[in-house]
Amino acid sequence: MPQTKPLNIGMIGYGFMGRAHSNAYRKVNNFFPLEYRPVLKAACGRDREKVQQFADTWGYESVETDWRKLLERKDIDAIDICTPNNTHREIALAAAKAGKMILCEKPLSMNTAEGEEMCRAVEAAKVPNMVWYNYRRVPAVTLAKQLIDQGRLGKIFHFRAKFLQDWTISADLPQGGAALWRLDVAAAGSGVTGDLLAHCIDTAIWLNGPIAKVTAMTETFIKQRQHNLTGKVEPVGIDDACAFLARFANGSMATFESTRYARGHKAEYTFEINGENASIAWDLHDLHRMDYFDYKDEGILRGWKSVHVTDGDHPYMKHWWVPGLQIGYEHTFVHQVADFLEGLAKGKPAAPTFRDALETQRVCDAVLNSARSGQWESLPQ
Ligand SMILES: NC(=O)c1ccc[n+]([C@@H]2O[C@H](COP(=O)([O-])OP(=O)(O)OC[C@H]3O[C@@H](n4cnc5c(N)ncnc54)[C@H](O)[C@@H]3O)[C@@H](O)[C@H]2O)c1
Repeated sequence: MPQTKPLNIGMIGYGFMGRAHSNAYRKVNNFFPLEYRPVLKAACGRDREKVQQFADTWGYESVETDWRKLLERKDIDAIDICTPNNTHREIALAAAKAGKMILCEKPLSMNTAEGEEMCRAVEAAKVPNMVWYNYRRVPAVTLAKQLIDQGRLGKIFHFRAKFLQDWTISADLPQGGAALWRLDVAAAGSGVTGDLLAHCIDTAIWLNGPIAKVTAMTETFIKQRQHNLTGKVEPVGIDDACAFLARFANGSMATFESTRYARGHKAEYTFEINGENASIAWDLHDLHRMDYFDYKDEGILRGWKSVHVTDGDHPYMKHWWVPGLQIGYEHTFVHQVADFLEGLAKGKPAAPTFRDALETQRVCDAVLNSARSGQWESLPQ
């Protein structure tokens, strides 16, 4: 094995993302030639038995039950925040103070004010930082970015995104606590806006530049649910669904929609971009394909083509199998770790940094404010 420098990871949270990130840390050096090698040093969770089970499954060397103890440890280089949204700020501020690198799950924060504080903290401490907007690293989405940056679409007229799910339709579903914190506004900050649209907004800004203004509509279909932590029936504070119109700084128009009430859809994230010369469409359910329409094609053969993004010259793909064999969701996290480690070696931060992710937070706040006020909300340019 080539000589690599260890990067000791302290993972906080052992749920969905704790697993996705641990898998990425374990695999990354098998596929990407890197100067650094993540070492699964410690996993942290409040329940000792459960966190120990997680540590044993994934190969963490030790466990902690208090994240503050983890931050005090000299043998930890980087903190990975995989806990609910209302914990990101406090952990990140303390981690920055302790001089740790920080990889934080999205959304960066509960709101813009928290996000600004977090940016100031990591920048003052000069610690490398990144937010896990992993969809940027689906090879088909990265390819879309390359084509747009090459100017192949020409002027972009439209951006259309949606993220649809159907898992909260039952009125009996409680809110709060393990697995259901996303329904509790105190833990999540918002509903589909911060959870799902944040992904769409991050991708949109990355592909098409800053968003200038928005006007939004939200709905909470089930107004009260039993709260798992108090046992009482309490008002629901999250948005179950959100639709908004946006104008990008480059003049293009956009529509965004997200809901957890689209019966039949589990994680239907799609976007389509229409430019003067070409259009691109992408669908998470078929994530290794990018649909492309090029007006320059010969008239009688002009039409949408479905590019199987699995060739060696497609983004990230030369690190995996042979052309034609596809990869999946978990690989986006491997790519993000690889880029983070490469950034460390080159002294060049991997995007999105906290500062980049703050832009998405600003748009989320503007969307929620607009839904409340019924007015267009402008974003600082
Ligand atoms: N990038 C993505 O695509 C993506 C996908 C899912 C979730 N997320 C984000 O990841 C974060 C975690 O989501 P998840 O789906 O993994 O949640 P989860 O409920 O599966 O796991 C959360 C973990 O945090 C732990 N936890 C909660 N409070 C804690 C505390 N105070 N101290 C230590 N541990 C604590 C829980 O015990 C659990 O292990 C959220 O911010 C979410 O928005 C991102």
